[in-house]
Amino acid sequence: MIKLDISPNKFRNEFQSKKPFLVRNSFVPQITDRQIDEIVLRADIIQDDFKLNFEGKVLPKNKYVESFQDVGKVRNRFIKAALVDYMRRGATLIANKLYNEPLIYNYHKQIEEISNRPALSSLYISYGNEDDSSFRAHWDTRDVFVLQLVGRKKWILHEPNFEYPLPSQQSKDMEHVVKCPTTEPYMEVILEEGDLLYVPRGWWHDPVPCGERTVHLSVGTYAIYRNDYLHWIIQNILPSHPEARMHLDSYNSIDDLTAYANLIHEKLTDPELLRNFHRLHAVEHYRTNDTLNLNSLCDPNIEEIPEEKLLYINLFHCVEDLEKDIIANGTFLKIESRPDMRKVLQCILDHQGISTYTLLKKMPNLDKKYVKNMLFKLACFDIIRFD
Ligand SMILES: [Fe+2]
Repeated sequence: MIKLDISPNKFRNEFQSKKPFLVRNSFVPQITDRQIDEIVLRADIIQDDFKLNFEGKVLPKNKYVESFQDVGKVRNRFIKAALVDYMRRGATLIANKLYNEPLIYNYHKQIEEISNRPALSSLYISYGNEDDSSFRAHWDTRDVFVLQLVGRKKWILHEPNFEYPLPSQQSKDMEHVVKCPTTEPYMEVILEEGDLLYVPRGWWHDPVPCGERTVHLSVGTYAIYRNDYLHWIIQNILPSHPEARMHLDSYNSIDDLTAYANLIHEKLTDPELLRNFHRLHAVEHYRTNDTLNLNSLCDPNIEEIPEEKLLYINLFHCVEDLEKDIIANGTFLKIESRPDMRKVLQCILDHQGISTYTLLKKMPNLDKKYVKNMLFKLACFDIIRFD
């Protein structure tokens, strides 16, 4: 379990997207050398998401990957001698956007819950020393939670001089305009195993190896930008208003745009529209990637979740609203007229990891069979999960 020392709410209010946050001994890393090897072996090494960074640059694939015919199928594998040589000379191996890795997903999911945002996880491995750091100071365009899994790594952080960069505004492409400050760093810290460092987007950071093996997980979290909301309004709301459809000729004065500007202001600050935007975004984007529960759900002879199993709700907090409806894994479920279902879901949300047995005890007035049947259907629709 990741510990923050402060509540997720306090973190979101005081640190998220604002300033770095360091937690010593936030978690107990439980990853073996073999598990690290296996995660790297399972990664799709031919894709751009898999990288070997060496001397500040991404190495071309042909420097360390070979393709071969494996019984009629083209496969890719490391050129082991090359990989070993680059790593020994200070390269950093980066397996980006890891998916379907239960061990990684365990951390990933906790970060999503803390940040209330969807995340992407990447593994960084290096054996270098300070002299052959394979990165330069840069900013990221997403907020990053660094979880130090093995060894130590030094992080030097500077305050942003270009705040809230968008994905198209990478520091490497803007070096001629904005450079890393040469003033005293905001923070200089050596992360030890189990430490967590939160680096908001736009903050300069220079990760430097300490001459020993270092493995860290970088969980990037993705905010919705205000520009996204405005874009959605322009696309979906404004076309039904004549102020937006009117002509704009060169002889029009700025005053002619007043009604249009007022309309945009009115829509942008409409709480109901903002709520709808978040909900539609959740339907399109937010998914969990946990258990399938094949054995319990697919057997036609089984119609109940075993009582000892622990129940979880597949809900992102940012769209939680158990008054009217919920959105879980792309499913929109109206619960306004289903008070029993609302009670059951609220109970699972309040006690994530509650067993069916305990849940039934907390609701003695509800028919046991009815609740069990409801839970089974909710699991089939991916609204709850159990373990
Ligand atoms: Fe970075």
